[in-house]
Amino acid sequence: MAVIKISKNEIPDGGCKIIEVSERLRVAVFRVGERCAAINNRCPHRGAALGEGEFDGTTVKCPLHSFRVDVWKGKGNAGKPVQTFPVTVENDEVSVVVDDAAL
Ligand code: FES
Repeated sequence: MAVIKISKNEIPDGGCKIIEVSERLRVAVFRVGERCAAINNRCPHRGAALGEGEFDGTTVKCPLHSFRVDVWKGKGNAGKPVQTFPVTVENDEVSVVVDDAAL
């Protein structure tokens, strides 16, 4: 298990920051005010970077084929669910827990 810590201020409100966790894993961390959600950045359809898509506060639109994913639930219409990661926000620190299997 790995815990990734970043400052909340590194994530634009209503936007996303992509974090490279390992060679095969990038995590997209979305922020709406004091709440944050973290998902695997890789779109389950063809692997585009979900964190680069348009985010409306609930869903992100994949930049490649426009499938949508609910970043809070990991569900979308890209065929398969997107992996989500537990997130806590304390003061200005955002912690994302990534299990070993995802690394
Ligand atoms: S790669 Fe994301 S919808 Fe096709």
